[in-house]
Amino acid sequence: MFQVAIDGPAGAGKSTIAKILAEELGFIYVDTGAMYRAMALSCLRNGIDVEDKEAVVEHCKQRKVSLNYENGEQQVLLDEENVNAYIRTEEVSQATSAISIYEGVREKLLNLQQQLGQEHNVVMDGRDIGTNVLKDAQVKIYLTASVQTRAKRRYEELVKKGMECNLKEIEEDIKERDYRDMHREIAPLKQAEQAVYLDSSELAIEQVVEKIRKIIEDRKNL
Ligand code: DC
Repeated sequence: MFQVAIDGPAGAGKSTIAKILAEELGFIYVDTGAMYRAMALSCLRNGIDVEDKEAVVEHCKQRKVSLNYENGEQQVLLDEENVNAYIRTEEVSQATSAISIYEGVREKLLNLQQQLGQEHNVVMDGRDIGTNVLKDAQVKIYLTASVQTRAKRRYEELVKKGMECNLKEIEEDIKERDYRDMHREIAPLKQAEQAVYLDSSELAIEQVVEKIRKIIEDRKNL
């Protein structure tokens, strides 16, 4: 199987770019963050304190997370319910970053992610794909951008959706999430040894896609 692993912090453009590449290549796109988000949503809905490790792990162990594709779009199923529409709120983002530090939560999703990588050609994005989930991926990318750029992108996205938001607050949330994702004990966000580092701050989506497309082509021709 051919595996493309894309890691990086929130708002670097990973999912937009991974989706375009997966479609072009005819691979499936696996958004691993969405799986963690589904678990966090379940904790929030059931009043589980995200700081309570034992309660979170126990709760998550009982849940079933799976993926489905509708018109090429990944749908996350939580105990068979499609929860795609509920997992992108700021509240869920923060809760996700909090619960993804627990080994019990990670182990469960790791198996599912590795299985997908063994059964399909994939473009998979997340925080620990190149370092942990798909250690032998043929292509590894570390995609990042400045905090200011990422906050501005998120702000514009929310404004477009007609949601009220504050740029400074978004920036603070991003910094907090970056810190937690990069400093946790298990599978922290960091650049994999063989990963190509790309900073998208000054690049348009198509320019980033073009760079990664070239890396994939070179790798395929080896
Ligand atoms: O990519 P995202 O913003 O949807 O991810 C949400 C959170 O999930 C992120 O803050 C950390 C966690 N996550 C993780 O720990 N490991 C992954 N492979 C993907 C996401």
